[in-house]
Amino acid sequence: MELDTGMNEEQRAAISGALSKILADDYLLYLKTQNFHWNVTGPEFFSLHKMFEKQYVELAEAIDEIAERIRALGFYVEATTEAFRKFSSIKEDHRVLSKHEMLEQLVKGHEIVIRESRNLSKLAEKHNDPGTVDLMGRRLNAHEKAAWMLRSQL
Ligand SMILES: [Fe+2]
Repeated sequence: MELDTGMNEEQRAAISGALSKILADDYLLYLKTQNFHWNVTGPEFFSLHKMFEKQYVELAEAIDEIAERIRALGFYVEATTEAFRKFSSIKEDHRVLSKHEMLEQLVKGHEIVIRESRNLSKLAEKHNDPGTVDLMGRRLNAHEKAAWMLRSQL
């Protein structure tokens, strides 16, 4: 059945495309956070190990919600590591980073998604899509909180 929700296909495709970019960024940010949960060392090991766990669990739930929003808008989710790497601005690390580098990289990663969520919220408002505006508002809050917690330890 065709969607008859008050948004045309072009509008839904624009929102879905921007969501796919955020999905890819969140997926790589999730993996990076889990990588640091495993590989962090030093006197603050336990608190950082715990904080990274809390953050990657939150990202996993968000990833599911974002992917399901794409489906609700009438599109399929390109869920391959290839697509995530292609769409994401978050770069992967091939060595074990210092605690300081880990915190810095995660702050930068969250900030990428914060900027994208802000832009998408504006676009969704323009296309009269309060469902996506709401999702982006909640994602902005979560990413800003995570970035604050990470930055406070630098
Ligand atoms: Fe664990």
